Amino acid sequence: MFAAVALLVVHACSSGTGAADQTTGPGPGTPSVDTIALRVLADRRGLRIGSAVDRGFRFAGADGVKFRAVLAREFSVLTPENDMKHERIHPGRDVYRFEPADSLVAFAEANGMSVRGHTLVWHRQLATWLTSGSWTQAEAEALLVDHIAHVAGHYKGRVLAWDVVNEALADDGSLRAGFWLDHIGPDYIELAFRAARDADPGAMLFYNDYNIEGINAKSDSAYAMIRELRLKGVPIDGVGMQAHFQLGGVPSSLAANIARFTALGVKVHITELDIRIPLPSSAAQLQTQALNYRDVFNACLQTPGCDAIVLWGFTDRESWIPDSFSGWGEALPFDATYNPKPAYWSIYNLLSGR
Ligand code: G3I
Repeated sequence: MFAAVALLVVHACSSGTGAADQTTGPGPGTPSVDTIALRVLADRRGLRIGSAVDRGFRFAGADGVKFRAVLAREFSVLTPENDMKHERIHPGRDVYRFEPADSLVAFAEANGMSVRGHTLVWHRQLATWLTSGSWTQAEAEALLVDHIAHVAGHYKGRVLAWDVVNEALADDGSLRAGFWLDHIGPDYIELAFRAARDADPGAMLFYNDYNIEGINAKSDSAYAMIRELRLKGVPIDGVGMQAHFQLGGVPSSLAANIARFTALGVKVHITELDIRIPLPSSAAQLQTQALNYRDVFNACLQTPGCDAIVLWGFTDRESWIPDSFSGWGEALPFDATYNPKPAYWSIYNLLSGR
C-alpha cells in the first residue's frame, strides 16, 4: 500500500532535460515516477541504502504521508533512530514497550525494507531504573543478557543486522567508561555478542562507532578488538562506521580503512551518514556536500564487503544535527520540504553509472 502511495505522492515535475553535471538531476523538485528510486539503483550495485527514522514517521497529515512516501520509495533499509534504545524499549525492570519500534518494523516489512536494529548495548539512553540502581557484577551481567534476550528475541527473524555494542571506545582507542564497563568490565562486549547470537541466530551482529571511518588511533583499536573477538570465536559479523561528517570532512583513508576491516572477514556498513553544513549554507557548499556524499558511496562501492549505507535521516525537516551542533544543519540529501538536493543527485548519478 505504501509503495502505491509513494508513487502518487512523489509524482511531480521531471522535465527530462538530462544531467548537466554530477550534482544535477533531470529537473527541479521531487524525484518523479520517471526517475528510478535510489534503492533500485543501489540494489543493482549490490548495495542497500537506508535511513534512520524517528519523529517524522509520526508527523501528522500530509507532512507524515509525504515523509513515509519518500522513505518507502527511496530506501531499502530502516533503522529506528531511538525507538529500540534501552530507555525507550525497556522503561521498567519488567516493562518492555515494543509498540513504537513494532510499527517501524511493520512499515519496513510492508515496503520490502530490511531493518537495522539499533542498539542493544550503549552507555547512553539507558533507563533510569538501571542507572540509578545498585548492582553487583553478576546482577549487571544478568541484566545485560536479559535485555538482549528480550529485545533481540522479540524481533527474531525480522532484523537484518543488530548494532549489538555501540560506541565502546573513546577517541584515544581505550575502552570508554560507562555503566556496562564499570559494572561488568571489558568482557561485557563478548557477553553481549554471545547473547545476541543466542537470541536471534539469523541476524548479523555489528560493532558500531563514530570516528572509526578513517585510519586513526580509534579505528586501529576497533580493528584490534574485532580481530581479537573473532580469534576467540565471539560471534561478530560486521563493523558499523557511523560517518557523521562535517562539510569537507570525509577522511581520505575511508576506502583503505573499509578494505582492511573487510579483510578480517567482517562486513562494513556505513550506519549513520550525514554531512553537516555551517548555516546559512551557500550554493557552493551544497555542491561540496554533494561531492562529499559521492566520495562516501564511492569508497563503500570499492569493496564488496561494504554493502549497506544508512543515512541518519533523509530530510533536513528532521535531523539530530541542529539540536546537537548549534549553527549547523542541512546535513541530508532531501531539503526540509522533501525536495532532492545536489547531494541526492550526486548519489543518484553515481549509482546509475553516470
Ligand atoms: O521524543 C522526546 C520528546 O517527547 C521530548 O519532549 C524531548 C525533550 O527533550 O525529547 C525527545 O527525545 C529526544 C530524542 O532525541 C528525539 O528527538 C531525546 O531527548 C534526545 O536525547 C534524542 O537524541 C538522540 C541521541 O541519539 C541521543 O543520544 C538523537 O535523536 C539521535 O539521533 C542520536 O543518535 C545517535 C546514535 O544513536 C548513535 N550515534 C550517534 C547518534 C547521534 O548522537
